[in-house]
Amino acid sequence: MPDLRQACATGRNTEETMPADALVLFGAMGDLAYKKIFPALYHMVRHSHLDVPVIGIARAARTDEHLKERVRDSIQQQGGDIDQEALAKLLNLLRYVGGDYEKPGTFALLKKALGSASRPAHYLAIPPSLFMSVVESLAKSNCMKNARVIIEKPFGHDLASAQQLNAALHAVLPESRIFRIDHYLGKEAVLNLLFFRFANSFLEPIWNRNYIESVQITMAEKFGIEGRGKFYDDTGAIRDVVENHMLQVVAFLAMEAPTGLHCEAIRDEQVKVFRAIPPLDPKNLVRGQFKGYKTEKGVPSDSKVETFAALRLEIQSWRWSGVPFLIRAGKCLPITTTEVLVKLRKPPLDNLAGESTNQFRFRLGPGEISISLSARVKHPGEELVSKPTQLSAVEDDTTDQVDAYERLLGDAMRGDAMLFVREDAVEAAWAIVDPILGNTTPLEEYEPGSWGPHEAVRLADDVGGWHDPEGRKKDTVAAPAAA
Ligand code: BG6
Repeated sequence: MPDLRQACATGRNTEETMPADALVLFGAMGDLAYKKIFPALYHMVRHSHLDVPVIGIARAARTDEHLKERVRDSIQQQGGDIDQEALAKLLNLLRYVGGDYEKPGTFALLKKALGSASRPAHYLAIPPSLFMSVVESLAKSNCMKNARVIIEKPFGHDLASAQQLNAALHAVLPESRIFRIDHYLGKEAVLNLLFFRFANSFLEPIWNRNYIESVQITMAEKFGIEGRGKFYDDTGAIRDVVENHMLQVVAFLAMEAPTGLHCEAIRDEQVKVFRAIPPLDPKNLVRGQFKGYKTEKGVPSDSKVETFAALRLEIQSWRWSGVPFLIRAGKCLPITTTEVLVKLRKPPLDNLAGESTNQFRFRLGPGEISISLSARVKHPGEELVSKPTQLSAVEDDTTDQVDAYERLLGDAMRGDAMLFVREDAVEAAWAIVDPILGNTTPLEEYEPGSWGPHEAVRLADDVGGWHDPEGRKKDTVAAPAAA
């Protein structure tokens, strides 16, 4: 079966398709590197997808040995059996460069460490406020020739800063060498939305405003900000996960079929969805902050930053006009899960349908990935009544699953930008949330372990309320319907 990527492998010039010959990781001593990037590098080595030097850069004056120790520790923290051979190979590829990102000397050291590498990939896993100066220093120190730049989210702080950052990047690099990461685009479960919709033909006739009543996406996290107080308080839930992860899920749910004939097909359709979403109205937003947030390390005691956001948007297109899309994301909620609920319209005859809840549910993780369809069937017995049931497809064999960071880093090293956010898409996404950034709406406090501020209920009143991800096991039990 052809891989979607084949479209990207043809018709491109050689320099762009040549794999990177070194990976430079800015932010090598940071939290993201420790939790996500080192494990991804380890799996890349295990799968023979990485055999070039990896240069870690951070401010701290450390040595190669310190970096190796941190990588070893990160892999051990993942648990499970460790492939010692792969780990040793990875450690062998590592070099460390320490220094201030503002000082030219740091980049001179990097240039030296790069040695004969002529196509480095620079991965900026650093605070967004440093992106511009690092990119400029890379260019000045001659480390940018033939290079790719991989940039972590959030890309900018709002529409204006994203535009500025795009302009600064384009002054030194063409778009084809810029890789804006949104790790949701590399997740199996999110990519599966695309396949479920477009690799089957049964869905297309009903996947529109005529049959779909509403769409809800919940990204619930039971944990809080896990020591990332400074980062989180500069960011907040809307910038942290709504502008990027949640809108990408909306795009995959709502886009038209990518033609598959050229590399930009998916990215073209993503941006069309974003452009059809009008900028959000603050009246369709509820912001919350969990009790206790202000006492977290790195958070000011008068912080007005949201740790919960619920919002409602519309897509003004032929397919979706009039269908509400609801998004809810927050920290310290009752469970950790990301789920999509697509509610179908009620069939016309009450005597057969009863309390109909025809809906698709996509569970995107963590852990179990599933798709289920809630339907009604005849309740066995004399009575002619229906009962609810659920058809579920659960992917519990995770052995072949590829972690999002592993997939995306591998793609960027090979120069395949299909699953990265393009310049126009990132700006279109910021344009949607720009009017709701900052203190445009009151901030409601909520109890940790609750579903956020009560006020959020009003956003979902006319679609039967917010979906309860905790209730998913209950749904699978067939209960007799009321006669
Ligand atoms: C990150 C956010 O981008 O995504 C975090 O900064 C969030 O706040 C995380 O917890 C969730 O990612 P995942 O893959 O665990 O769902």
